[in-house]
Amino acid sequence: MEASNGLRDFEETSNDDIKSFFDSSPPLKNAAEIKRKTEEFVQMNSDSGKLLKHPRRIVLVTSGGTTVPLEQRCVRYIDNFSSGHRGSTSAEYFLKAGYAVVFLYREGTYQPFCTSLPNNPLLECLQVTDKSNITARPPYEKTVKEAISNSHAATSCGTLLKLPFTTIFEYLQNLQLIASSMSSLGSRALFYLAAAVSDFYVPWESMAVHKIQSSSGPLDMRLVQVPKMLLVLRRDWAPKAFCISFKLETDKEILLKKARTALEKYNMDMVVANELLTRKEEVIVVTKGGNVVVQRDRTRVGADVEEPLIELIVEQHSAAISSAS
Ligand code: PMT
Repeated sequence: MEASNGLRDFEETSNDDIKSFFDSSPPLKNAAEIKRKTEEFVQMNSDSGKLLKHPRRIVLVTSGGTTVPLEQRCVRYIDNFSSGHRGSTSAEYFLKAGYAVVFLYREGTYQPFCTSLPNNPLLECLQVTDKSNITARPPYEKTVKEAISNSHAATSCGTLLKLPFTTIFEYLQNLQLIASSMSSLGSRALFYLAAAVSDFYVPWESMAVHKIQSSSGPLDMRLVQVPKMLLVLRRDWAPKAFCISFKLETDKEILLKKARTALEKYNMDMVVANELLTRKEEVIVVTKGGNVVVQRDRTRVGADVEEPLIELIVEQHSAAISSAS
């Protein structure tokens, strides 16, 4: 699927490709509700003078992987790797830095404030006492209390809006909808696109309706390329926003080359380059001014790479807002 230089996915994406992707996608079921919620969220966090002293900056954090269904009544699908750890942890740091966060996440992946809880928090962290009350069980008391209060605080004061997706069709339609709701924010908008987005998909109209039968023999299926939406995001949906995309590779040799090509080709403000095996230890932030290596503080137990990463991003976003005004 890739050319030997590894740059296959930088082929031109035309407006026709983008139009035909959206035209042929199954319509988002609750599009009107998502639009209403996002517009209210943007309005509430921009309302300086009435509810807020200063309008907040708003970041869209995308998190988790998209699926590519192989059947319309889907039994089988192709998945993209991402646990959602990067996105959910980053969302927490953006909230701490005073941003309002739209968290567009793959259903079933990590959520903000829940990354340090075990896999099955309800059963592993809670217990029923003699008096039929439910309490946290040791050693989770502090973790559970913090997770609940931080998460409730963010949602109840209107600084965290969570929107789920599963398929590539849902993800890209949501992205378009949210980006157009955020376009009025100008340089106060930040796009942090950490989701792992499918590069190939089966167009809806050529997809089998029912479960593909194994009795028909080997499966021969043609996948077409998903148009790169970074192009339209930057050019049409949110031209003044600060845009950060991610580049994930397993081969170190091509990582930085591809990240820099993405920075230039899609006119991103930053590309966060990460290697699959070391992604929790180190990322390299590629910018027009050069590369910055960001590492987690190995001297501190529990320290993560997202903390210094978001610090750097907030600093650079502030500089971009100042120069825009
Ligand atoms: O969730 P974790 O387990 O913590 O892992 C985090 C991560 C490794 C998934 C994350 O740090 C990361 O690298 N995410 C991006 C992975 C990815 O999809 O890379 P890519 O090379 O396929 O895409 C690069 C960029 O192009 C992405 O920002 C994506 O939003 C964008 N893209 C991709 C495909 C497409 N058709 N259109 C796009 O705009």
